[in-house]
Amino acid sequence: MNTTLIRDGLLVESDRSWRADLLIEGEKITRIAPRIDTKTLPDDTDIVEAEGLCVMPGLIDSHTHYHLVSRGTVTADSFIEGSKLAAFGGVTTVVDFADHDKKRPLVASTNDRIDAMEKEMAIDFALHQGVYGMHEGIGKELEELLKRGVSTIKIFTTYKNVGYLIGMEGLRDLFSLCKKNQIMISAHCEDDTLIEQVEKEHKGSYTPADHALLRPAEAEYRAIKYLGSLAGEFSMPLYVVHLSSSRGLDAVRELRSKGIQVVVETTPHYLLLDASRLEGPQGPLYVMTPPLRTHHDNRDIQDALIAKELQVVATDHCAFTRAQKLASDDCRTIFPGIPGTEELLPLVYTFAVASSRMSLSDLVGILSSTPARLFGLYPQKGSLQIGTDADIVLFDPEATWTLSSDTVHSASEYTPYEGFSVAGKAVMTFLRGHLIMGDDVYVGKPGEGKFLRAKTSSAYD
Ligand code: URP
Ligand code: ZN
Ligand code: ZN
Repeated sequence: MNTTLIRDGLLVESDRSWRADLLIEGEKITRIAPRIDTKTLPDDTDIVEAEGLCVMPGLIDSHTHYHLVSRGTVTADSFIEGSKLAAFGGVTTVVDFADHDKKRPLVASTNDRIDAMEKEMAIDFALHQGVYGMHEGIGKELEELLKRGVSTIKIFTTYKNVGYLIGMEGLRDLFSLCKKNQIMISAHCEDDTLIEQVEKEHKGSYTPADHALLRPAEAEYRAIKYLGSLAGEFSMPLYVVHLSSSRGLDAVRELRSKGIQVVVETTPHYLLLDASRLEGPQGPLYVMTPPLRTHHDNRDIQDALIAKELQVVATDHCAFTRAQKLASDDCRTIFPGIPGTEELLPLVYTFAVASSRMSLSDLVGILSSTPARLFGLYPQKGSLQIGTDADIVLFDPEATWTLSSDTVHSASEYTPYEGFSVAGKAVMTFLRGHLIMGDDVYVGKPGEGKFLRAKTSSAYD
């Protein structure tokens, strides 16, 4: 059995940080103490000196699309590439998506995705199951899903063209069934009716910059209000993915003021990038849905995160190569999505913690412990408790570096954050006690990643 002693680091959990030694035996954290005497340990114990480093639970990117097959193509980062770049970013668990094959029961789609991911993932993973339409017998299928270890579904209020749009008819039944089974509904919120209307009235070009005009923030507001009101009717939580706008935030606040439970995720790009990126020949590289908004929206979302109005930052990692992205300059056909998992930690650390606006513990909360709780993985993931999985990232808060296509590892061959100077770097990443990244070298093994059976979301507590 491998034994690793991480000595004299600053242990950081979502509610405290303290200096201590941490012992890993096999796959688990087995001891934490101010000082662990090496004489009590086997001779072949690996000793890692962590003075000056933060010792955090492995991060969880709870919104990824690795190997997404869509629009007649497949994304650049599949499970092998995704695992590798995640390890470089200190991410040891992702919650990815299973598409809904409408011809088969939901759990069949889940099983296919688990089988494919188990073969190639080198980090652990859980799943959200997409539900792209209602049908006879879905109640039983949701029960099967829960038994298989999936406790969140994902719905879309848009994307009719690719078959994701959930019809409004039957939505009430879906909410009722999810409430009964305590399944969390996560939703991509953009009102398709408004988007269709804007599209009809749109005169002119379809450049990347037009993408932002064609999918206005008002559409996000309306969809969040609609789904939130439904959640309110059933006294159940709603999880809003990738909040992008101040108007979306207005909707969240209005719902919460009525006592409705809305859990909100945003992404690094809605915190830090604005629609000016869509101008010029590189514009397609910045197309995702919902689109980038204004600088004003960035600031409102940043402030809301700092004020704890938002609970999770995840990336919506959906990477296409430069060539795939630049193959079209028509926003209706540019593949939507950008990379982000690897950049998550340094970006959020730099904007929030290095600027003294957020504590290290709160950082661990939004990037690890809270998603672990919300997606039914805590404390096995998202904590440093004795007996839990030794998923650990050693983070150097003093490192300064520049994000660029040469310093990050996505097969997309670009980063939307090119040239960003960042503070903080993951220097070692352990997955269940095994080193998967150290000193800028990746040693993860495809197939070592395990599917995690999710328990009921803490949002139902
Ligand atoms: O443009 C995006 N975000 N692509 C990924 C799919 C989604 O909408 O989350
Ligand atoms: Zn989405
Ligand atoms: Zn997504």
